[in-house]
Amino acid sequence: MPAGTGTTAPGGTDETGRHQPPARCDRTVPGGTGEAPLGTTRPDGIRPPASQAPPALSGAPGRPDRLMRNLTIFVDSFVRLRGRAREALGRAEPRPPQPGLPQWRKLVVTDRAEEADGVVSLRLAAPSGGPLKPWQPGAHLQLELPSGKIRHYSLNGDPADRACYRVAVRRIIDGGGGSSEVHDAVTQGTVLRVAGPANAFPFAADPAVLLIAGGIGITPILPMARKAAALGLDWRLVYAGRSRATMPFLDEVRALPSARSRVAILADDETGVPDAADLIGRAPTGAAVYACGPPPMLAGVRDAVNAAIDAGRLRALHFERFTAPPVTDGHPFEVELARSGTVLPVPADRSVLDVLRAHDPATPYSCQQGFCGTCAQRVLRGTVDHRDQRLTGDERAAGDMLVCVSRAPESERLVLDL
Ligand code: FES
Repeated sequence: MPAGTGTTAPGGTDETGRHQPPARCDRTVPGGTGEAPLGTTRPDGIRPPASQAPPALSGAPGRPDRLMRNLTIFVDSFVRLRGRAREALGRAEPRPPQPGLPQWRKLVVTDRAEEADGVVSLRLAAPSGGPLKPWQPGAHLQLELPSGKIRHYSLNGDPADRACYRVAVRRIIDGGGGSSEVHDAVTQGTVLRVAGPANAFPFAADPAVLLIAGGIGITPILPMARKAAALGLDWRLVYAGRSRATMPFLDEVRALPSARSRVAILADDETGVPDAADLIGRAPTGAAVYACGPPPMLAGVRDAVNAAIDAGRLRALHFERFTAPPVTDGHPFEVELARSGTVLPVPADRSVLDVLRAHDPATPYSCQQGFCGTCAQRVLRGTVDHRDQRLTGDERAAGDMLVCVSRAPESERLVLDL
């Protein structure tokens, strides 16, 4: 990556129209500077109830202050009664945006670069030039491509650079067509609808960390390495790929602080395909492992790390896949397409999405892991074995099903509104 060819964005309005101070959109990414602060939610993700009374002002441990408790009860009652009164008058409070639903806006591709054989990067900025929403290592963007396909790509730039996001895409010849579309149809100046950032692979900044990246899997891992270095963690990075020519961001990996002692670059055509022991052998004792790469690599890493966790040598494993997880505990069943009456068998080892895509390649999907919601279909009849991490109880009760992961009991027939 050439240095110092940055594009400086002027101050302007952000995506919500507010004026913001100038931000920057650097071509090069500095190592480990100016990370945005970590979120303030509890580690378990549970926020304390809004109406919970504070501790006693007298300092009595574990007892709420009586005045504040009564005041809280009064305010809660008032809010409830006001809501009922408004509903009765047909003036219900405006509903806030539903959590979990993507909020789409337009960003423009300000730069496109070849990062390695078969890998391009895109820089995306607000058309106004204003700052973008903050993000943390592990976060991804949803991109709606010109054809309407939706795909997720990890953010791999510098979180402190609020002027642009950077994603990188490897062309997958026999994939669903999304990566080829990025390569062939998205250029500097293309305007894309974008949702996020969202983070399904958060970096928890454990004191000791092993980062493992396979090929394009470097994209979420690179910001984690910068963060680990900036926080002074005991970190190591193993970056594996078929050959150096196919491995994006090698210059940035080599430029990480203490890279000589902390980073191992393993190219198959130089040292052979590494096994799981090669990949995890560099872990500091007690490390948490973060891995992103192709399924065979992740399968080997998972088994090796689990054995090391059992032996007390490693602490945890976090990983992100590129593709759908293998079906586990699957049984054969059928889906019926209500509008045509077509019945499609779903084998025990294939997803409903696979079967629908074989029937109609335009079937929408993105993450293939049950968290983005792109593949949702409406079930008119039949019992669903929900396996996603996204739908609410109400959505499931209404008949929604994420067909990339959810299934049905053996011999069941699901009638889909298709
Ligand atoms: S494709 Fe993302 S939830 Fe199914």
